[in-house]
Amino acid sequence: MSAGTAAVTGATGFLGTHLCERLLEEGWDVRGLSRPSSDRDGLEDVDWYVGDVLEEETLRPLVDGVDAAFHLAGVGLWSAGPETVERVNRDGTATLLSACRDADVGRLIFASTAGTRRTNGTKRFADESDVAEPIGAYQSSKAAAERLVDRYAETDGDAVTVHPTSIFGPGDDSFTPQLLAMGLEPTMPAYLPGGLSIVGVSDVVDGVLGAYHDGTSGEHYILGGENLTYDRAASRVADHADGSPARVPVPSTAIHAAGPVAEAVGAVTDRQVFPFDRQMARLATQKLFYSSEKAHDELGYEYEPLEAHLPETVAWYREQNA
Ligand SMILES: NC(=O)c1ccc[n+]([C@@H]2O[C@H](COP(=O)([O-])OP(=O)(O)OC[C@H]3O[C@@H](n4cnc5c(N)ncnc54)[C@H](OP(=O)(O)O)[C@@H]3O)[C@@H](O)[C@H]2O)c1
Repeated sequence: MSAGTAAVTGATGFLGTHLCERLLEEGWDVRGLSRPSSDRDGLEDVDWYVGDVLEEETLRPLVDGVDAAFHLAGVGLWSAGPETVERVNRDGTATLLSACRDADVGRLIFASTAGTRRTNGTKRFADESDVAEPIGAYQSSKAAAERLVDRYAETDGDAVTVHPTSIFGPGDDSFTPQLLAMGLEPTMPAYLPGGLSIVGVSDVVDGVLGAYHDGTSGEHYILGGENLTYDRAASRVADHADGSPARVPVPSTAIHAAGPVAEAVGAVTDRQVFPFDRQMARLATQKLFYSSEKAHDELGYEYEPLEAHLPETVAWYREQNA
């Protein structure tokens, strides 16, 4: 017997691939949204709906009749310029919600980001109540999408928002290889001065499914992991894998100075380079730590330490770089 029918946008991405694999293992019928050019390798048992998250005519049949719609499609400033980021993250969510209003959908789970939450400096760990002034197009597009999802939950349907922190695991082409390079590569001697919450992709999948099963409609849940400085994270990667940890901190002043340069390149190419812009540069030097207590209490969410995720992720990374 089927465990249910799920629709997944962003099914071909890093988190989406892991979520689809888990849903299939658990006996769900899985429909995935895929752009014509997306790499669908390894997900042959997914029923593919080919199109774009901005095309309502593709989204309506995708979501009609599903128990769960997992909305993971999104783009960050690593891979696109601010206009595309706003269009896909905010307008894509609006288009999906419009399709859900016209269809029969059980619960919508929206993957936002922990970046829309930040402490005001009076406490160490941000929680769901610490709604922050968005910095840059990625955060502002996700914050706008959150408001749309909240309104849908109030007026039209059932929806829960999850806020993953920095996701770590095999198949990621942005954050994971950069963190591993800081711990493993002698050619990468410098680490960033700030800190972050690192969460294994399998833990995020648990949290997303927890939000489907046990979340409350209209609520938000941070799905975080260990809070670590970059220095500590690089050392733990190195200790685990006989690597060569980055030993020199990049000075905050250098990162702040790099901001305007990156901004200028971004303006010319419609593609951002780290650290994106002046405001993002300021964030890269802070300790952005998060509490997942609400998800723990209400969803039974647990996360494992970095070391639990390292064997599989380092093996994947070494295979990619062999
Ligand atoms: N990774 C993290 O650390 C992290 C942290 C917090 C929140 N999140 C959020 O979690 C979600 C999944 O992240 P991820 O790391 O898995 O991202 P990812 O690997 O970049 O995957 C993004 C997915 O969105 C799809 N997509 C992009 N533009 C689209 C469009 N116009 N129409 C349809 N599909 C489109 C991509 O399709 P293609 O395969 O065709 O490119 C891909 O399947 C995103 O919304 C992201 O903002 C991620």
